[in-house]
Amino acid sequence: MPFHLTDEQELVRASVREFAEAAVKPLAAVIDREHRPPLENLPKMAELGIFGMTLPPEYGGLGTDYLSFVIALEELSRCCATTGVITEVHTSLCCTSILRFGSEDQKRQYLPDMAAGRKIGAFCLTEPGAGSDAGALVTSAKRDGQDYVIDGQKIFITNGSFAQIFIVMARTSDAPGTRGISAFLVDRETPGLEIGPPERKMGIRGSSTTPVRLNQVRVPATARLGEEGEGFKIAMRGLDGGRTGIAAQALGIAQGAFEEAVNYAKERVQFGKPIAALQAIQWMVADMATDIEAGRMLVYQAADLEDRGQPFAGAAAKAKLFCGPMATRVTHAAVQVHGGNGYIEGFPVERMYRDARITEIYEGTNEIQRLVISRGYLR
Ligand code: CAA
Repeated sequence: MPFHLTDEQELVRASVREFAEAAVKPLAAVIDREHRPPLENLPKMAELGIFGMTLPPEYGGLGTDYLSFVIALEELSRCCATTGVITEVHTSLCCTSILRFGSEDQKRQYLPDMAAGRKIGAFCLTEPGAGSDAGALVTSAKRDGQDYVIDGQKIFITNGSFAQIFIVMARTSDAPGTRGISAFLVDRETPGLEIGPPERKMGIRGSSTTPVRLNQVRVPATARLGEEGEGFKIAMRGLDGGRTGIAAQALGIAQGAFEEAVNYAKERVQFGKPIAALQAIQWMVADMATDIEAGRMLVYQAADLEDRGQPFAGAAAKAKLFCGPMATRVTHAAVQVHGGNGYIEGFPVERMYRDARITEIYEGTNEIQRLVISRGYLR
């Protein structure tokens, strides 16, 4: 499917690219080295409207389509994968879930602050015993009069150290498997919500990934998102769009690494000429470019299907299944083009190579994407 972006979508790309080059790129190596989130950039991103891009104007958003948002993610991730994932989880998993399943009161309470970046979201699904098998979660939410009391342990929570709003999936009944799960909106200040120390990770080191402990966390029944027992579907629905977002992150990482490799190949002289004149390098560049363009088509197609209200879960899983490994291949080749320099901290491709790897894991591993895709044909 050929893609002709609209003037608005091209404008999103140009303005996010300009911002990312000026503000995001210079911090990327710093936050990676210091294992800390780029908090100083969040207000600037908010000013551009990035945190509320897909939310309707009545809730403070820009009301763009999802394709524009994934282009923004691609551009942010081209400069800094960490900034990409912070934005993706906040928007695709959190804002969109509230917009889709929230009551009018919940939307008015949360979305304007989230659109303005005053409150960043975190999505609490994963537990020590529930990773790929998300339906095995054991965090419980017991009804107590007008409240629920939530108890449990979540892990690998993106944005954990600075998020203000946590969407927590917890079991509200003894119904088996995925059936008895509900979703809750929990404010950071709620007594009993304890954020653990950030993990030390291989890549996306600026993104804060923390455990979240829920210790007798009491929330009013009005904090439940959607109906009782609807939590697993809310999570899966969020992840459908989220997977397009992570595919866009992988695409951006690959694009950034590709550009680094091309620039380096033109400058680096060996055997009396730039290495770009060597067929070995030319073939790597050709393979990288082809891989990236194939990935871009899948990402844009998945976003476009979502925008047109068509079924898109399979397309999103395909985009993620292709783009995660594609980013690993492309960053691997980009390091190879750089030779020994590619293995040294300070050359961006060293970081990009590490950053790419997670896109094959979070929001569903490659293996889970294959499960989702094949079920679409075999069920
Ligand atoms: N939309 C709506 N409903 C859905 C759905 C979807 N995409 N997928 C499943 N459901 C529904 C099913 O219809 C079914 O409903 P009924 O009970 O009414 O029949 C119910 O949910 C259970 O579905 P399954 O039988 O398919 O459930 P399962 O247990 O076999 O497995 C799975 C589903 C696809 C493996 C799922 O567990 C999964 O996606 N696992 C991966 C988890 C994951 O991606 N985690 C990411 C964590 S968040 C993260 O990584 C963010 C970050 O930090 C960057």
